[in-house]
Amino acid sequence: MQQLIEDLEVLGSSEGCETFTVSRETSTGKTRKLYIESYGCQMNFSDSEIVASILAQEGFDTTSDIQSADVVFLNTCSIREKAEQTVRNRLAQINQLKKQKPEMLVGVLGCMAERLKSRLLEEEKIVDLVAGPDAYRDLPQLINQVDEGQKAVNTFLSREETYADIAPVRLNSNGVTAFISIMRGCDNMCSFCVVPFTRGRERSRDPYSIVAEATDLFHRGYREVTLLGQNVDSYKWSHQENNKAFLEKKGIQDVVNFANLLDMVAQVNPLLRVRFSTSHPKDITDDVLHTLACHENICKYIHLPVQSGNTRILELMNRGYSREWYLSKIDRIREILGEDCGISSDMITGFCSETEAEHKDTLSLMDYVQYDFSYMFFYSERPGTLAEKKLADDVTEDVKKRRLQEIIQKQNEHSLLRNKRDVGRTFKVLIEGYSKKSNDFFQGRNSANKVIVFPKENYNKGEYVNVLVENCTGATLLGKVVS
Ligand code: SAH
Ligand code: SF4
Ligand code: F3S
Repeated sequence: MQQLIEDLEVLGSSEGCETFTVSRETSTGKTRKLYIESYGCQMNFSDSEIVASILAQEGFDTTSDIQSADVVFLNTCSIREKAEQTVRNRLAQINQLKKQKPEMLVGVLGCMAERLKSRLLEEEKIVDLVAGPDAYRDLPQLINQVDEGQKAVNTFLSREETYADIAPVRLNSNGVTAFISIMRGCDNMCSFCVVPFTRGRERSRDPYSIVAEATDLFHRGYREVTLLGQNVDSYKWSHQENNKAFLEKKGIQDVVNFANLLDMVAQVNPLLRVRFSTSHPKDITDDVLHTLACHENICKYIHLPVQSGNTRILELMNRGYSREWYLSKIDRIREILGEDCGISSDMITGFCSETEAEHKDTLSLMDYVQYDFSYMFFYSERPGTLAEKKLADDVTEDVKKRRLQEIIQKQNEHSLLRNKRDVGRTFKVLIEGYSKKSNDFFQGRNSANKVIVFPKENYNKGEYVNVLVENCTGATLLGKVVS
């Protein structure tokens, strides 16, 4: 998947939620300092970059030192109960700091802010400001309100907001890879999922602004962009007067779909790699797969979350596809893009009424697909979702966790098998920076999103090199550069 997730990857992890603090400080002598911590998915990390950009216009520098911050923001996630608990624990820690520095403004942004709205102010006394994902343009005004001694809340969800005109301030950037949000919200209403409630209706961003952002990143030395959306395959931009000339030049008359968009971004420069996430099994088209096949610089890697391998459970989850449909998509990927295309998944164990036999269907589906990687979770009931309203959360926690262990173990076996296949082969790798363990080694990824570590020699970050893989673990390939 993506760089940030990559940085965190613990093979067989059941945790998709992690934290990032600002690692890039802007010191332009501005008057106030912003510290921002992001939880949850890449969309949230991408949003934090938009927040930093909006506040940069308002006299804020970013800082990675919470002690020196005037404003502390937590950009939060609600996907599982544990994600919210993590934020509450963090607020308790920050409370200690605020006792020594009462003027420090504490704000909660993102999905938990949207879900709990002003209740958050009652439940967490330390919080001064609550802003949902579509309210970030209002942050300067909300901060003023707090400065004037009030608490401030904006959790209005928009049908139009895409922040298309805001150039994100790249936080935590390695200068080589970056995210570009291409759409917001989600209309799918998977029964377990809180996202449609916290992020609102699906809307796509103007393709012109996406191509412009990718082009700008390329000129600034970036060599990989990841196009982000909860369901990128339903990206859709209707022809509008203001970008008519641009679209006509690209040969597109009416509607830009995801395959068209991929094609446009791939044409920015052959040296700019293009990745994307997340694909939805019900919506991914042959057109998208053929577009991948046509462009060497579109990475051959598809994150295609299955959630469950059993059709009855998939129906209860309201996923919009059956086991057979999903497997036919896997077959198409293999037919069009071959065995080397990386495929990963998300899975949930112990969803409402899941039987032992149905759990085994997930295991057998994994055997068929042989994923390179998966994010695996046990089901966590979320307030307000369709499942919470209509289905009993009746699988015990012990059973959920035992089933989770079983899929993790299977995934670990498959990851190792898929990596062993690559030993002895040579891959084009984009160098992203030092390996986690040593500054004598670089790491990067191949097209299929495999992390490859190799001796640094005289190569540089942002360069492409050919690496012969000599060894592997389940998580990483190890090799050396060959000419
Ligand atoms: N839009 C993506 C998923 C976004 S959420 C998609 O449709 O695939 C990321 C993952 O979190 C989901 O794929 C799912 O596996 C997991 N997840 C979502 N809600 C969950 C819940 N209530 N309990 C456990 N895992 C959940
Ligand atoms: Fe949630 Fe389903 Fe939308 Fe993904 S597609 S964000 S799982 S509702
Ligand atoms: Fe979490 Fe919201 Fe993303 S709930 S997974 S931060 S869209």
